[in-house]
Amino acid sequence: MSKIEEICAEIEQFKVESAEKLENFRLQFLSKKSELQSLLSEIKNVPPEERKTFGQKVNELKQKAQQYYDEYKAKLEESEPVVASNNDLTRPAEMLELGAAHPISVVMNEVCEIFESIGFTRATGPEIEDDWHLFTALNFAPDHPARDMQDTFFVNQQPDIALRTHTSSIQVRVMENQKPPIRVICPGRVFRNEAITSRAHCMFHQIEGLYIAENVSFAEMKQTLMFFAKKMFGEDTKIRLRPSYFPFTEPSAEMDVSCNICGGKGCTLCKGSGWVEILGCGMVDPNVLDNCGIDSKKYSGYAFGLGIERMTQVKYKTNDIRLFFENDLRFLQQFTGM
Ligand code: DAH
Repeated sequence: MSKIEEICAEIEQFKVESAEKLENFRLQFLSKKSELQSLLSEIKNVPPEERKTFGQKVNELKQKAQQYYDEYKAKLEESEPVVASNNDLTRPAEMLELGAAHPISVVMNEVCEIFESIGFTRATGPEIEDDWHLFTALNFAPDHPARDMQDTFFVNQQPDIALRTHTSSIQVRVMENQKPPIRVICPGRVFRNEAITSRAHCMFHQIEGLYIAENVSFAEMKQTLMFFAKKMFGEDTKIRLRPSYFPFTEPSAEMDVSCNICGGKGCTLCKGSGWVEILGCGMVDPNVLDNCGIDSKKYSGYAFGLGIERMTQVKYKTNDIRLFFENDLRFLQQFTGM
């Protein structure tokens, strides 16, 4: 009985301030090898008339130990931090940085949407093209310089396969697969073997336009392109067509818009002329129509090709084409929210 009192006092005095101490408590009073357990095995040495009280006392003590243990454990768990790190969960959340469309994509979509508003539909084609779609069907002479390795990135020779040098290859594919009337706008990436400078790059973007129907006139083309220029650069924009040459159009022209950086007074973008060239155009050469299976006696049409980088430079007044491909966020972030 005195042993019971002793253990009871030990339990009451035991200080549990850590997980380690808690475990010691358990070993000392609750485990199979604990003093309490060994007391129970003493029961046979207790006189029979006292056994009942003895058993009761030991059991009460066991319960007391268990109760202390549970309380200590709960207290310890309460005081332990939930997340074992020094993250401050009350700190304000960091703002998510929203991405935005690249300026080239923005302008590409803008151009397409203007033409879509007057009935053109989008068409695309492969970036790796064969000689037929790039040059031959488009009436390029066999010795045309574009067929030279110095201008074109060839992937294979004989048969000639190259990275497309212009999106005009898409108009061939469309004409081969559709019957007139045809009215398409074809955006895409093109590649040329050129030294990279502020004004030129080996990779850039173009949009090709094509309209084929009966009795299409040069005047119609001019009006369509003027409508486009005013929508794109503002109602005050003027256009001018200069005679030019492309193998796939006859007659051919280059179109300038009045420079919206200097308002026509002359600056570095327009090289002092007040005009910026933005596209090539012309009436589709009858040879091209015939090459693509369209009757050139019945149908005529116009085509145009414009450079997106140049267009973006005019619209957003940037002066170095390389900026578009360097992915410098300081540059790109100026276009977010557009
Ligand atoms: N394919 C020409 C180029 O890359 C651009 C072009 C000019 C396309 C006149 C046309 C066009 O459709 O009629 O320089």
